Amino acid sequence: MQKVRKAVFPVAGMGTRFLPATKASPKEMMSIVDKPLIQYAVEEAVRAGITEMIFITGRNKRSIEDHFDKAYELETELEMRNKQKMLDIVRSIIPKNITCVYIRQPEALGLGHAVLCAQPVVGNEPFAVILADDLCDANKPVMQQMVEEFDRCHCSILGVQNVKREETSSYGIVAVDEEKPDVHRVRSIVEKPKPEESPSTLGVVGRYILTPRIFDMLLNVQPGAGGEIQLTDGIAALLKYEAVFAQEFEGVRYDCGSKLGYLKATIEYGLKHPEVGPEFSAFLKEHHCDWSN
Ligand code: UTP
Repeated sequence: MQKVRKAVFPVAGMGTRFLPATKASPKEMMSIVDKPLIQYAVEEAVRAGITEMIFITGRNKRSIEDHFDKAYELETELEMRNKQKMLDIVRSIIPKNITCVYIRQPEALGLGHAVLCAQPVVGNEPFAVILADDLCDANKPVMQQMVEEFDRCHCSILGVQNVKREETSSYGIVAVDEEKPDVHRVRSIVEKPKPEESPSTLGVVGRYILTPRIFDMLLNVQPGAGGEIQLTDGIAALLKYEAVFAQEFEGVRYDCGSKLGYLKATIEYGLKHPEVGPEFSAFLKEHHCDWSN
């Protein structure tokens, strides 16, 4: 039985909700306290046992490649100044057994199209998809929870969470059959349904494990709204051939592609940060902020 060894990180979106911050630099390089979103995502994949990271990049995304590359000048400088702790941080960004591959998506034609761009490198094996702007905070990393489930079911799995009914039009929504309390068989999936038409409130967030048949499906998906090829449409087609599961993972997800989600994540991660957490917490209390999510 095949293991999940590869993760695809689609990072070619325009990030329009974060303009002007994303005009010349990628949204995935925005930092929560001291680490860019894309690094949290890669660390999550590493913790799930994944060893090949495939980035689907676009214009203005060079800083992502630079971030995961060796920084000779910086390392030399830190060495000369005897800044060992900083040097260790810079050197440990990516473990030695991990390989990174970069593929250019020539035009931002949608998430489904971005995933399809990974086909030549993924080949004929199951793979993970992680959207770095969906930052997930969990005791056991979300992708690890999903890989463990994949090792049992050997089917495609979508990371889902219950969303407010009035927000269904921001998500791909699944209709499911109960299997286990937290893992359900998907009956159907629709992209961004109106609240009154939504088949449930289980929204797909940026974590997927997909079987390679998804590529055949995506090849035949017609562009939808805005000319984009939707991953949701590919998954809907996959359902005709294979079982797909929805996993309600344990953990909190922050939509860091939105300003509000980004600010919430910054506060939570700031409070937990070993270096600044206690002082930040005192600062919030001083300013009468009773922060409890
Ligand atoms: P979003 O829907 O968040 O779009 O994409 P976006 O362009 O990044 O941001 P907004 O909505 O304009 O603010 C979801 C994920 O899919 C990737 C994005 O980088 C993001 O991680 N994506 C989207 C691509 O890689 N290529 C695309 O053509 C579209």
